[in-house]
Amino acid sequence: MADVEELKRKAGIEACKFVKSGMKVGLGTGSTVKHTVVELGRRMADEGLEIVGVPTSLATQKLALEVGIPLVELSEIDGLDIVIDGADEYDPKFQLIKGGGAALLREKIVAQESSAMVVVADDRKRVESLGAFPLPIELTPFSHEATVRSLSRLLDCRVNIRMAGDGPVITDNGNMIADAHTGPSINDPESTETEILLIAGVVQVGLFNNMCDAVVLAGMNGVETVINPNGRLNN
Ligand code: A5P
Repeated sequence: MADVEELKRKAGIEACKFVKSGMKVGLGTGSTVKHTVVELGRRMADEGLEIVGVPTSLATQKLALEVGIPLVELSEIDGLDIVIDGADEYDPKFQLIKGGGAALLREKIVAQESSAMVVVADDRKRVESLGAFPLPIELTPFSHEATVRSLSRLLDCRVNIRMAGDGPVITDNGNMIADAHTGPSINDPESTETEILLIAGVVQVGLFNNMCDAVVLAGMNGVETVINPNGRLNN
């Protein structure tokens, strides 16, 4: 079986085919899309590619600067041409779970500002029903215990604050992450997203609905690009 890291690298590099000179590019977060960021930096240095990037996390910001991608703020530009990002799961309708790397809020803001979203993944991420991967939810620290209780009641499952050693994970935005152990039962992700966002204390949820236009998927038989028939790249 092919090494997972090698699959991630292949998918990450292949996705760069969507990026052309002059584009404003959202740079996702995670162990797959980091290969995209490195390859875009290489193409800028070796092939004269000219782009500007908007990073979705402080980690990606650091990497992008290291590989020489000039960065801008969303406030300085009128939208992005494309965002390339990883995912924790995607279903047959191209709905996603994201946030395994705790960057979901910035990732969703950047995705929302982009004219297209391409996901890079290895084939372990493809599922029939979302939710085997615990659903990440960003919370305000204030009264987070009460927010966790509300989420647990709503979703009828265990919800845990994500920890890093002895303390909670703190996001780039100063918030916490809760992981909801729904099991693979999120069959109506749009309703689930809406219901979760109604709880005060929830900042954002890692359900990315109707955003993904293509998945660059690496598996044992190579890399394939799966275009969402209802997406913005279907022409
Ligand atoms: C970061 O918060 C996430 O949304 C990542 O994009 C997602 O977890 C995929 O990461 P990997 O490529 O590391 O699996």
